[in-house]
Amino acid sequence: THVVTEACIRCRYTDCVDVCPTDAFRAGRNMLVISPDDCIDCAVCVPECPVEAIFFDADVPSSQQRFIPINAELSERWPVITRSVAPLPDADDWACVQDKADELDQ
Ligand code: F3S
Repeated sequence: THVVTEACIRCRYTDCVDVCPTDAFRAGRNMLVISPDDCIDCAVCVPECPVEAIFFDADVPSSQQRFIPINAELSERWPVITRSVAPLPDADDWACVQDKADELDQ
């Protein structure tokens, strides 16, 4: 499966959603995650993300490994998102912030 990582938090650009052929994205208040049940590993979302938040699970950097179970768990209870929406208001300010995992609004 593919996994959304920390870089998405408080940005949530949602460009990734429009290219997903299986509607695998789920929307939280300040991040998206991918449902491992729906992802077919086509990888078309990867280059769409302006902050490079999306990885194939085997390629997730060590600092981001915790997001593999986070995607699996939160995708069970967050709603499906099938079309892009406006980024969060301060998305461009948060895009370059490295350490923002504590900002995740579950
Ligand atoms: Fe997040 Fe990137 Fe999609 S910021 S919402 S993974 S385009």
